[in-house]
Amino acid sequence: MKALQEAYTVHDCTHTTDPAAFEQLAPRIVAVAATGESLVPADLLARLPQAKVVSVFGVGYDGVDVSAAIRHGIPVTHTPDVLTDDVADLAMGLVLSVGRTIPQADQFVRQGRWPQGPIALGKKVSGARLGIVGLGRIGKAIAQRAQAFGMSIAYTARSQKPDVGYTYYPTAAALAAQVDFLVVITPGGAGTRHLIDAKVLQALGPQGYLINVARGSVVDEAALVAALQAGTIAGAGLDVYANEPHVPQALWTLPHVVLTPHMASATHETRQAMADLAYANLHAGVTGAPLRTPVPECAAR
Ligand code: NAP
Ligand code: 8YV
Repeated sequence: MKALQEAYTVHDCTHTTDPAAFEQLAPRIVAVAATGESLVPADLLARLPQAKVVSVFGVGYDGVDVSAAIRHGIPVTHTPDVLTDDVADLAMGLVLSVGRTIPQADQFVRQGRWPQGPIALGKKVSGARLGIVGLGRIGKAIAQRAQAFGMSIAYTARSQKPDVGYTYYPTAAALAAQVDFLVVITPGGAGTRHLIDAKVLQALGPQGYLINVARGSVVDEAALVAALQAGTIAGAGLDVYANEPHVPQALWTLPHVVLTPHMASATHETRQAMADLAYANLHAGVTGAPLRTPVPECAAR
């Protein structure tokens, strides 16, 4: 924001906070700065005749109507790679947290329950079976970390990867049936909506744990709550939700669930790297310089 404010006049979410004022200034907007959670729909883009770029501060850009942006001649950029390590770290943190019940154990000690007896046993992570839904940049980084834990690794994606030695399953349900921890790390959007549904959770089974660091839309949240309540799966570690920042209250009280507030890339180091890249992309778009990291749909243009 500081860099943007030094170089540009920034109208921070005016389109939602003051639509009337926004109508006046929209014809002069030269760029859109968005986050991974932002909505940049077709009707907003249609009102920005001078816009030269949509720069997303995040690798996921499912909130941007990329087809509409392309129709209006506005390229879209994002921030891949610079956040990969952090997101993979948090995914493994959630695997360890749900398996070894670390947040629950912390509460157990703080609430003075230890003198009444020992805490319940957890699930061993080292040597367990990990399934990754989406073996892209972050999925591969999760696999690397899991290898250090001696986990066996399997995955599903749209296509099999010839360059990895992990076991491939063509569907999420087939993968879920073979693993202890199922980590979801695909993009959001229409192509992956409710990819993890009641059938996949059933396949994961009563000893299986679901980890979602992708987008809330990828998991059928109602089916997940029902599966956790019924013991259809053993537990879940969630960083993303269907209607952020609102998390279903049913999840707050479930015992085998660990919840984080969409923070997988939220370290000082990574957020600075994302900000630098998002700014560089925005400035390149406005000045007509080559874009650093356009989204794949805009890369060939
Ligand atoms: P990426 O390199 O593009 O990888 C995406 C992977 O998902 C690819 O392997 C792709 O398969 C797979 N995929 C796409 N559609 C699928 C489908 N319908 N079924 C199965 N697999 C599918 O992206 P990335 O950099 O790893 O990032 C992945 C996503 O993580 C982002 O888009 C974002 O939504 C999320 N994310 C979340 C946070 C957070 O704070 N929680 C932070 C960063 C990113 P193919 O390889 O076969 O095409
Ligand atoms: C960020 C993300 O939390 O990169 C993504 O897709 O979801 C996260 O890194 C987000 O973009 C910042 O709001």
